Amino acid sequence: MKREIDVAARNWRPSPLAGPIFLVTTVNAQGWTNVAPKSLINFITVSPPRLVLGCSRGHHTSQNLLANGECVLNLPQDRLAGRAWAAAEPRPPAPDEAEARGFTPIPALRVRPPRLAECAAHIECRLEGVQWYGDECVLVLGVVAASADAEACDAEDPYAVLRPIFFLAPGIFGTITAGTPVRPSA
Ligand SMILES: Cc1cc2nc3c(=O)[nH]c(=O)nc-3n(C[C@H](O)[C@H](O)[C@H](O)COP(=O)(O)O)c2cc1C
Repeated sequence: MKREIDVAARNWRPSPLAGPIFLVTTVNAQGWTNVAPKSLINFITVSPPRLVLGCSRGHHTSQNLLANGECVLNLPQDRLAGRAWAAAEPRPPAPDEAEARGFTPIPALRVRPPRLAECAAHIECRLEGVQWYGDECVLVLGVVAASADAEACDAEDPYAVLRPIFFLAPGIFGTITAGTPVRPSA
């Protein structure tokens, strides 16, 4: 038996669509780093690699991205979920926001916003387009560089090291703890 689920995404229970959680770093006009968790994220083209990020109009993340066009998506493992959630608490811009949120900024490979050292992988992006839906926008981001902890790159199962987390519902996340090889079957 199937049961209908409320179409309002906030009321989805269970949620049929998990969003990958990243800590997005951007910089403002003063060069100060902003850190915020985002999960309305997905790949849209493979070659060249391009993804989308859904963001509210009032957020520092969209404002910084629209002003200077660059961001880094930093992948927090499950052990950083509490810190990632806490980073959603709004704060006025400050020169040491990354540190105040419990993260160590390190230079990115190709863009100005920093990578966060505690995170296991990083996707560096430049803005390619924006589509507005009321007070929310979809930011189209071209991937210009990616990096990950050497431990994950060298591991037999990199996903057991990365342990990426996904937004399921307010206050609830899921974790990938292993990559599972497919065994084709009928
Ligand atoms: C796990 C998690 C995922 C979130 N994903 C998004 C998202 O994809 N888009 C968005 O606009 N806000 C999202 N939020 C809310 C923002 O993180 C929050 O409003 C934050 O204060 C925005 O910060 P900013 O103004 O620095 O961008 C999420 C919050 C959490 C805890």
